[in-house]
Amino acid sequence: MSERTVKKLDGYDRVINCMPDKSMSVRAVLFNAYAVGKSTVNNLLLSDDVLSAVDCARRLGAKAELDGNTAHITGAPFIGCDLYCGNSGTTARLLIGLLSGLNGIFTVDGDESLRSRPMRRVIEPLRKMGAEITDNDGKLPVRIVGAGLKGIDYESPVASAQVKSAIMLAGLNARGLTRVTEPVRSRNHSENMLREMGVAVEVVGNSVAVAPSIVRATDFTVAGDISSAAYPICLALAVRGGNCTVRNVGINETRTGIIDVLRASGADLQYRNERGGAEPIADITVKQSELKPLEIGGDLIPRLVDEIPVLCALACFIDGVSVIRGARELRVKETDRIATTTAALTALGADITPTDDGMIIRGGKPLRFGTVDSMLDHRIAMTAAVAGAAGSGVHILNADCASVSYPNFYGEVIGD
Ligand code: S3P
Repeated sequence: MSERTVKKLDGYDRVINCMPDKSMSVRAVLFNAYAVGKSTVNNLLLSDDVLSAVDCARRLGAKAELDGNTAHITGAPFIGCDLYCGNSGTTARLLIGLLSGLNGIFTVDGDESLRSRPMRRVIEPLRKMGAEITDNDGKLPVRIVGAGLKGIDYESPVASAQVKSAIMLAGLNARGLTRVTEPVRSRNHSENMLREMGVAVEVVGNSVAVAPSIVRATDFTVAGDISSAAYPICLALAVRGGNCTVRNVGINETRTGIIDVLRASGADLQYRNERGGAEPIADITVKQSELKPLEIGGDLIPRLVDEIPVLCALACFIDGVSVIRGARELRVKETDRIATTTAALTALGADITPTDDGMIIRGGKPLRFGTVDSMLDHRIAMTAAVAGAAGSGVHILNADCASVSYPNFYGEVIGD
């Protein structure tokens, strides 16, 4: 087991190049592996989750050569095989959707955490499309016998980009139109990328429709991951006199809930150098500010769902009561993040109460040194590091899982 001690920081003044986006990296690899032709993906995230996607692409028959952060991918008709997705829910769920409509027999499996996560949310709508999937009581491993699919008009009970994307990908090989409607719109990277790859994607309100299409290999340059930028941003806001700039952050509005929350709470946070098209980017500069308690709920949740643990860490440093509600989805992430965020911050002396669908944090009381087990959840390890660095230090068990989304997190963000 990896362990690491993070010391209290006396100040925080840093310029960081944003880690490339995990969601976009996984999609760029999987979509181009399936596409017709050759492509180059620049600024690919070289994290464990993306390497799981690369491994799956290769097993499926595509060529994927990595040269630093550049991937050269040659698409291929996928062949039946056994796939291991490690910790990556995005890889597993998107592949289950895509493979359902292809010829071949496939199995999809993952690590212990991924095996505990719900797959019924993708399997049920895919079965309605005619998919032949054998599951393990709604969980991995699953076996897919690729079948002729028909399009559906699906009302998803959850706002989930993974569910939406899985159904859209199945729709590429289904008869007729496939439409997914979400209660709240989730991240739209699949829509943006597939459109660039020649797929007719129609978006109306919270609905997305695709028709059967050929997918053309397309070069991408991956934007920075706002979910990774969240750690230095929250650290700078929590440390007295803190400031930092994170360069090249993706600011797609389906991902910027954290910016809205921080600005509403009074953060001095600026976008500079805004650039780009469907996936815009900016450099984000932030300075420690007097913050009001955080209020997070409703339609905001899908726009910041992965940032909630670190926002809870920040809330510990804000006088008053911060409230997270409507975030039951946290219970089915890499860990039950309502439970693991509460346990991590409680171990550091925070006053945090879990609720059914969120947390209540009474902030402004000093944190103490403590030991936190990440439970192998990358975002809990990084959240503990931020709380410890801004508080009184922390000893983290299972610290290295940060590499699932943020290789060299401790060196780049915390500075040890
Ligand atoms: C992701 C979508 C989100 C997010 C996950 C990555 C994606 O999950 O939590 O880390 O790449 O589509 P859901 O779509 O299940 O909410």
